[in-house]
Amino acid sequence: MKKLYLVKPLAIGTINPMIYGHFSEHIGGVFYDGLWVGEDSPVPNIRGFRKSLVEKFRAIRPTVLRWPGGCFAETYDWRDGIGPRDERPVRLNWWHQRDQRLESNAVGTHEFIDFCRLVGAEPYFAANITSQSPMVVRDWIDYCNSPAGSTSMARLREQNGSAEPFRVHFWGVGNECWGGGGNMTPEVYAHEFRKYAAIMANSGNGLELIGCGPNGGDWRWTEKFLQHFEPSEHHMQGYSVHYYCSACGHATEFTDLEYYQMLVKAAGIETVIERNWQLISGFGMQNYARLVVDEWGCWHPEGSGPSQGRNLFEQQSTMRDALVAALTLNVFNNHCDKVRMANIAQLANNLHCLFLANEKNCITTPTYHVFDMYQQHQGGNTIRCIGDDDDSVIASSDPRQPATLASLSHSASIRNKVLTLTIANLSLTENAGIVLEPVGFQLGRDAEITTLTSNNVRACNTFAAPDCVCPTEHEGVATTLAIPPASVVCLKAKVK
Ligand code: AHR
Repeated sequence: MKKLYLVKPLAIGTINPMIYGHFSEHIGGVFYDGLWVGEDSPVPNIRGFRKSLVEKFRAIRPTVLRWPGGCFAETYDWRDGIGPRDERPVRLNWWHQRDQRLESNAVGTHEFIDFCRLVGAEPYFAANITSQSPMVVRDWIDYCNSPAGSTSMARLREQNGSAEPFRVHFWGVGNECWGGGGNMTPEVYAHEFRKYAAIMANSGNGLELIGCGPNGGDWRWTEKFLQHFEPSEHHMQGYSVHYYCSACGHATEFTDLEYYQMLVKAAGIETVIERNWQLISGFGMQNYARLVVDEWGCWHPEGSGPSQGRNLFEQQSTMRDALVAALTLNVFNNHCDKVRMANIAQLANNLHCLFLANEKNCITTPTYHVFDMYQQHQGGNTIRCIGDDDDSVIASSDPRQPATLASLSHSASIRNKVLTLTIANLSLTENAGIVLEPVGFQLGRDAEITTLTSNNVRACNTFAAPDCVCPTEHEGVATTLAIPPASVVCLKAKVK
């Protein structure tokens, strides 16, 4: 048996519920036939949104939803997505060269806000700073947030059906400005940020602006950007990081080595957080640049999803993806003093998704279940977990790509006198027997234990077998846990 010390006096901080956030872009099948089926569809819907997806999504308490991209945001004109739906312009979607799909603009600002309200999430808008002027962005903020009857934009909003402001607080100042979002250098982006942020912050009270940070481990971007950023004059409440794990076999077909390589990549998010944070605090900007990991997840080769390649980037999601999600969320919980928001990419019919949907079908992936199991962490206080096994590693025997990985990933938090402990056993072969040792508090005797596993780590849910990978629950004893290989376990127990 391994011991896991849960050390309350070494509390890390409060887990911002927005760490449990999501991302939905106008790309492939995310919206059209994913979230949105249209009001006249035979598929049960709520004002055009797929009813079953709304209900299941709401159940896992999504806190924040990023929109409309992603790269799509870089050519998006918000004015296309308001007014009578049948009069909205049809445009080239940023991704049209890859998937030939035109943008109907059926889902625009009003519809998206409606979806956010249906599922209980805060909207987080990515502003287009690549091909729109600061004034166009200002007008969008004005349109969303100005009080009823005040500005012309607020009156236009009312004319379009909503006297009530949308209260959009979170605004991304561009997306991937080092790439599709303008191909900028960090110096140029720092200048653009200052220009747009000045106008955006002036457009409404209480906005939270998110600056565009690096792609994965590109520390140079962070360093150069921060050198040219003046925190006293300019407004930034978050600093975004994108982190994808790719190129480790196929979504559903991978070797054991590729399985471990994917998890090693996933574990690399911790270094990305720590190194960026070192730079941020080195520049004294820890109050301006808390991290927002607003795109993260597995990016597998295309074609494994049910649309068989029709939906760009659509991929199946196995137990391996669930383990990546569990490990990543544990890292975010354990760094909740640095990470203020995170958004897994993307919600449906795409990369590391929670839903696969088409026509009348709509299923949840194993990753959905991880978010469900972890929801009690939202708003909890993270306490430090120290395992006496922390040096036990799984090593890849491939001399070209040696890899080490702690076999257990864990995080623990306390909220409302309930301990939530989530553990991912990353080993493909070893059971983990664990004895919990609370330090600085006592646990009640009984525990609720939920386990997500499968005897096949390549297993996934399909339209034909929607519950192939789904969690089981049982009552247990709070101090001992048996964790099967390649599984995620959540223990909840009362704190005395
Ligand atoms: O999530 C898919 C794409 O990945 C996003 O549009 C972009 O921001 C990133 O490169």
